[in-house]
Amino acid sequence: MTAAVTVRVPAKVNVQLAVGPLRPDGFHDLANVFLAVGLYDEVTVAPADELRITCSGPDAGQVPLDRTNLAARAALSLAARHGREANVHIHIAKDIPVAGGMAGGSADGAGALLACDALWGTGASREELLEICAELGSDVPFSLVGGAALGRGRGELLTPLETGGTFHWVFAVADGGLSTPAVYAECDRLRGAGASDIADPEPSAALPAALAAGDAVALAAAASNDLQAAAVSLRPSLAATLAAGSGAGALAAMVSGSGPTTAFLVAGPEEAEKVADVLRSSGTCRAVRVTAGPAAGATVVSLP
Ligand code: C5P
Repeated sequence: MTAAVTVRVPAKVNVQLAVGPLRPDGFHDLANVFLAVGLYDEVTVAPADELRITCSGPDAGQVPLDRTNLAARAALSLAARHGREANVHIHIAKDIPVAGGMAGGSADGAGALLACDALWGTGASREELLEICAELGSDVPFSLVGGAALGRGRGELLTPLETGGTFHWVFAVADGGLSTPAVYAECDRLRGAGASDIADPEPSAALPAALAAGDAVALAAAASNDLQAAAVSLRPSLAATLAAGSGAGALAAMVSGSGPTTAFLVAGPEEAEKVADVLRSSGTCRAVRVTAGPAAGATVVSLP
């Protein structure tokens, strides 16, 4: 039997994405409320002669298979810290939309990290894993942790948030991706000359309460995304997708993260099917996914 470890990692949606000033290091300070949702990538690692990545799934062709992939960088980082070679075959079974604003690349980074730790018996502490995640990217620590969390700093400094129920979502997957740096740059461009003087982002007080109460109506009322205008500016067709979901009765219609996936919070499973049907027949998106959150963070689902 070939030894292999498989880790399942969720996608995320941001129910708050408050973007502060552009920092000297090129990032923006955020007040960011993440919710993990039940769309998953599965990352499998197995011993190999050298580091290589393969990917399966409908959008596999859009996934980089070189060392720019966060999964490869995660394996290399953990190996370097523990004085070993990153000689693994990483296979990504991809179900999270690629470059869609749902942290699919981050999920693969967190998944590969946890899988390599288990395969190699590295015994890295949770703190070390979170530190490596933060080095890999702003959203990677949340992919490891899952559930719901407030992210400060550039999104990597997490405080877990309580959730008191299940939130039902419909996601409309757009044709093609959007580059996260391009969307942040467009946000700055739309803000004009004052982009560096903008006020520090404030975490919403209403959102943690709505999450804890399991109250979808309150969550919808408090949800916001400062990157939405920038994503719609770069991809004007998203306005029609948002309007279609709103018109079908979604409680909230928003761009997911930096987009171009759009997210529709709905009251329950029946409303989800209704909104999904309307979106499918609207001709404004490539695919529609129905799911719910919170979802667990990166989890080992099979060991050697
Ligand atoms: O951290 P990550 O690699 O995901 O960030 C990708 C890019 O997104 C950054 O290089 C930056 O342009 C932008 N970004 C930002 N502020 C953040 C997070 C990301 O400007 N808080």
